[in-house]
Parts: sequence; C-alpha cells; structure tokens
Amino acid sequence: MEPNALDDIVIGPASLERQRAALELVLRDVPLEDRPRVVQQTMLAAAAGERSLDGLLVATRGGQVVGAVWAEMQPGRTAGVWAPQVAGPQAKGIAGALLARLAEELRAHHVQMAQALVAPDAQQSAETFRDAGFEHLTDLLYLVSTTGQFPTAPVARDLTLEPVLPQSEARLAAIIDATYEQTLDCPRLNGVRDCRDVLAGYRATSHDDTSDWFLARRGERDVGCLLLARHDEIETWEVVYMGLALDARGAGLGAELARQAQWQVRRAGGDRLVLAVDTANEPAVKAYAAAGFVTFDRRRVFVRFLDG
Ligand SMILES: CC(C)(COP(=O)(O)OP(=O)(O)OC[C@H]1O[C@@H](n2cnc3c(N)ncnc32)[C@H](O)[C@@H]1OP(=O)(O)O)[C@@H](O)C(=O)NCCC(=O)NCCS
Repeated sequence: MEPNALDDIVIGPASLERQRAALELVLRDVPLEDRPRVVQQTMLAAAAGERSLDGLLVATRGGQVVGAVWAEMQPGRTAGVWAPQVAGPQAKGIAGALLARLAEELRAHHVQMAQALVAPDAQQSAETFRDAGFEHLTDLLYLVSTTGQFPTAPVARDLTLEPVLPQSEARLAAIIDATYEQTLDCPRLNGVRDCRDVLAGYRATSHDDTSDWFLARRGERDVGCLLLARHDEIETWEVVYMGLALDARGAGLGAELARQAQWQVRRAGGDRLVLAVDTANEPAVKAYAAAGFVTFDRRRVFVRFLDG
C-alpha cells in the first residue's frame, strides 16, 4: 500500500500554548505591522469570553505548527471561517485535511452553516474551500456612506420608524419573515436557516444591543424593518439588515429606508455607515446608491451546510 503522505501530520484543536502561533499563521493576510496587535487583541477577547477559539485547529509535524485554520463560532449556529494557512510543503493536502477535521469539530458544536469570505483575487483560497465541499453562495459588495451624504433634516416620511421593544419582538420576527418573501438577498439561504438562528445572528452583530432596531410602518401597518448596530471600537455604524414586505416594494421606500438609516446615525452623532449587500440584489443596490452609498470592498461568499 502507498504510504499516506500526511502520515506525520497531527491535526487537532490548538492548545493554549499554540494559540498564538496558530493565530499568527491564520491571520497571515493581516498586514505584517498590524498582525501582532490583532493577534493580541484576539487572544484577549477570547480570554474574556468575547470571541471563541474553540474552532482554532493546528496541523503539527514533529511538534512544530505547520498549518492552522480558524472557524469563529457565532450565535445563530454559524461560524466564520478564515482560510487555512500552511507553511512549507504539502500545503494543499494539509489545508484540505484541516478543513475536513474542522467540519467534524463544527458538527460537534452544532454549527449549521460555515461561511468564508474570500477576496475576489484569492483564487487559491476559493479552490481550497471548493475542494472541501463549500459552495460559492454569492458575492458581496461592502458599501459605505459618510456625513457628506447624510440627510441634514428628517427624511420626508412615507415610513415611520418605531423602536423595537421587548413586547414588539414577535412583530419583528413576523415582519422579518415577510421581508424574506421573494427576496434577492442571498435567496439560497431562504428556508434553509431557522428564523431564530437568523435573529440570533443579527443580535450578535448588534453586540446584543437592540436600541437601534426599528419596525418600519406605513400608516397603521408594519411594512418593514431597519436594524442598525453601532460598533464603538471602530466608530462605525452598520445596517445589519433592512427589508420591506413584498407589497411595499417598488415604490421608492427602499431608498427612503436607507435615508432614514443615515438620518438615525447623524442624530446619534455618527459619521460613517456601512453595510454588505448581495451583488445580485439589484433593487437593494439601487436603493443604497440612490442614498449615496459607494462600494469600498468586495468578497466572495463560500458556505458549507453541516447538518443536511
Ligand atoms: C431591497 C429593498 C429594501 C429595496 O426597496 P424597494 O422599495 O423595492 O426599492 P425601491 O422602490 O426604492 O427601488 C430601488 C430601485 O430598484 C429598482 N427595482 C425595484 N424592484 C426591482 C426588481 N425586482 N428588479 C430590478 N430592479 C428593481 C427600482 O426601479 C429602483 O430603481 P431606480 O431608482 O433606478 O428607479 C426591497 O426590495 C426589499 O426589502 N427586498 C427584500 C429584502 C432585501 O433584499 N433587503 C436588503 C438587504 S441588504
């Protein structure tokens, strides 16, 4: 029988003393001058229970770390996967073995969907994920608008925003569901993910702070929602999600909702609002462009569903 070329490779969760080496490897795309700080911050956040290193795996040969992969587990049964990085020979085989072992680890943690964001020019990472059973879900545009594009007075109102309170959460869940009907926002995910998991994901992105979540109402009816989050550490606001029910679309309300988001941010003293949008979601892209958003980055999204 042919000897297995990876016989001398051991793969497993990164022990405490190997976490730094593993993160330094896996965060190889972070510019060299920023990397030590990012690694240190990540380790401190993990020690404080704010980030999870449970999905940090290393490949070792003769006790030396030669490869690593990290899937950061997130509420809502998802995990964000950083592409495997391998130093030295047999990179392709080791990367594949790391991702195969990672899938077992994620299943054991009841993760339903692993997601990787890959730069458009990172052909090799894309290939590695494909070979490991990930599918190319869609492409994302990252958009930004800053104070110069924000309205300077309250936006003319077809829609009124009502803050989401604990007693209105059932209404929020219902209207989010309604906004998914015939959506062009990653439609492949529709019906695949449980609404509770999706909401848990929105909540986590909002740092468990829902004080900037709104129901959008037209007259006496809920017709949409606008979920904003403030990221203090980077002094940026984010549209975590916005959407309109099917019968409220196509009448310019999407652009109005985007303007209302900017107005909320201005009122709160913020000066930068970002979001990610599916490139194929033409009405959304147009609505954001009408509100003055511009593209600052792009990513390809690869996903793997782990529980059927
Ligand atoms: C995205 C969304 C909020 C946009 O709101 P909307 O009210 O439909 O959009 P608007 O009426 O403001 O129209 C925006 C532009 O898209 C165009 N448009 C509307 N529906 C379209 C469709 N199905 N296909 C292509 N273009 C469309 C409009 O003509 C308009 O273009 P114009 O400014 O050149 O005239 C709404 O479609 C929606 O909630 N969709 C489901 C959830 C979603 O995708 N959320 C976005 C997450 S990032």
